[in-house]
Amino acid sequence: MQKIGFIGAGNMAYALASGLISNGYGKDFIKISDVNKALLSQINTQLGVEIFDNNIALASASEILILAVKPQNLAQVCQELSSNLEQKPLIISIAAGVKSIDIDRWLGGNQALVRVMPNTPALVGQGISGAFANNLVNAQQKSAATTILNAIGECVWVENENLINAVTAVSGSGPAYFFLMLEAMTKAGVDLGLEQAAAEKLSIQTALGSAVMASKSSDSPKVLREKVSSPGGTTQAAINSFQQQNFEQIVSAAMLAAFDRAKEIGDEIGDEIGK
Ligand SMILES: NC(=O)c1ccc[n+]([C@@H]2O[C@H](COP(=O)([O-])OP(=O)(O)OC[C@H]3O[C@@H](n4cnc5c(N)ncnc54)[C@H](OP(=O)(O)O)[C@@H]3O)[C@@H](O)[C@H]2O)c1
Repeated sequence: MQKIGFIGAGNMAYALASGLISNGYGKDFIKISDVNKALLSQINTQLGVEIFDNNIALASASEILILAVKPQNLAQVCQELSSNLEQKPLIISIAAGVKSIDIDRWLGGNQALVRVMPNTPALVGQGISGAFANNLVNAQQKSAATTILNAIGECVWVENENLINAVTAVSGSGPAYFFLMLEAMTKAGVDLGLEQAAAEKLSIQTALGSAVMASKSSDSPKVLREKVSSPGGTTQAAINSFQQQNFEQIVSAAMLAAFDRAKEIGDEIGDEIGK
């Protein structure tokens, strides 16, 4: 086991650290730093991991360093570390939108670096992360990063960093698309006469059951849909209504908007912070 240090003890770091410990990773190998001492002592009580109020001391004690601060704090954290990374740990950044080339520059250059786009279901161990490794990351480091990301769900590697913007459009922002669908289904159920609580429960459990079915089945979502849509039946009537209103085009335009905004944010952060 390698020593993993987290800078930033917020929601994501907690999800990753607790997931690692639940998966059998030794708590003695996990260390966390933060500017918030109350939060650190809470994490120490909850997880029993070593805490630091100094990022440089944490970095010196870590073989893998996970940058888990908000994007707007990342340049400052990297610049603080830049002249103090003697052992050159593997850097894993989970900051949304911040490009590896900017992080590498802030850290002083020549840094093995993995950039990750996680999503919120990570907080309940059901996340999916998209990850990109720069060309200084070796196979052993990539495998260690996969082990870490599997602690909060699953992980998909992309070869080209621009594809992280596509990951953002699919899975990073994706939970909100499903929440929107749940809101709409619940409201429509209420309009059809159900109690709010019943409509919400029916909608949420249907989404959960369908996702579990799709993840376990060897059939594609298209085949699964066709299997439950008998010609002339109720499901087919609903699908026809969705398709007459260009459902696929609505989804595609929404995801293109997310993709374009992810690219814009990445450019803005790189240009504006820590030049
Ligand atoms: N939450 C999600 O679902 C999600 C999804 C995708 C990506 N991400 C990414 O994951 C990263 C972490 O998100 P989060 O929700 O866990 O954030 P968070 O809860 O705000 O945690 C970040 C922690 O870092 C601390 N911090 C700020 N500056 C610091 C410094 N210089 N040194 C050490 N610690 C410092 C913050 O303290 P203060 O609060 O006092 O500033 C806070 O406790 C973000 O970059 C975000 O983009 C999160």
